[in-house]
Amino acid sequence: MTESIAVGTDGSAAATAALEWAVDDAVRRGVSLRIVHAMDRWPHDLVEFPTPGRSGQLECFGEQVLTEAAKAAMERRPDVRVTTELIEGTPSDVLGGQAETAVELVVGNRGLGGFAGSLLGSVPVRLAGHVSGAVVVVRQGRAEVYGEVVVGVDGSAECDPALGFAFEQAALRGCGLRVVYAWQMPLHAFSPEAGGDIEEIRRAQRLVAEERLAGWQERFPTVEVVSEVTRARPVPTLLAASARADLLVVGSRGLGAVGSVLLGSVSREVLHHARGPVAVVRSTRSTGRGPRASSG
Ligand SMILES: Nc1ncnc2c1ncn2[C@@H]1O[C@H](COP(=O)(O)OP(=O)(O)O)[C@@H](O)[C@H]1O
Ligand SMILES: [Mg+2]
Repeated sequence: MTESIAVGTDGSAAATAALEWAVDDAVRRGVSLRIVHAMDRWPHDLVEFPTPGRSGQLECFGEQVLTEAAKAAMERRPDVRVTTELIEGTPSDVLGGQAETAVELVVGNRGLGGFAGSLLGSVPVRLAGHVSGAVVVVRQGRAEVYGEVVVGVDGSAECDPALGFAFEQAALRGCGLRVVYAWQMPLHAFSPEAGGDIEEIRRAQRLVAEERLAGWQERFPTVEVVSEVTRARPVPTLLAASARADLLVVGSRGLGAVGSVLLGSVSREVLHHARGPVAVVRSTRSTGRGPRASSG
């Protein structure tokens, strides 16, 4: 099977933005594009009591969405190879399955459902951090090119796949990479016995970040890296950096993740509030109950 990027579409404006992002990335990577529409019977029909003609209508709508998406993809980049898939099932199940055989999965931040002003639909919430590899969530209405990819790291091993993805994206785009490591004073540093030397902690944090970077920089020597190690809250720091970035990359969870949580709080917040595309990258080997599962 040739490598491909999977993109989910329900025909919405955000899904169209996702499609455009996916088309461009397929060309950058030299892989094909698989456009997927899930026919979700459930909200309309109980399988036992189908409304006559409903299934035909859903299929018709799905075919139309896919035809229009394929046309738009080829108009945008005539050199892209496109396939389409019409599959019955709930969108998150169908797309989760498709992600298993894709280089990455791309979806819009919202779709046809949801309510006005909703920032994130159920599909990205269910999939980001839950499926292995990268889930890229794209919003409509962003045309600027900034020439920078931003990645958020927190010194945990969980962010290694995110670093790898971010270096790869920067290399593919021929742009710079900003590595943002926003750290906060650990609570125990304030206890009287810790005698916390802030400069020492600062140096230690910088070292952690540099160690994480070294291996990737070796693999992608052409990528120019700016690393920003700052004592600040991660969410606002990442959101600010992403305002001037073509892509923000985060890991699925980090140091603060508790138990079996698959999407950490920083990644979740960033997904809700970022202005541009966000990639949530989870290790392909991770089971979600990795060695950090009990470390708080
Ligand atoms: N039926 C579907 N088939 C394929 N992809 C879908 C489908 N529904 C949603 N998606 C993908 O998920 C994104 C978010 O949609 P969703 O989570 O359903 O938001 P909303 O609640 O606003 O409808 C869409 O932009 C699209 O990329
Ligand atoms: Mg929907």
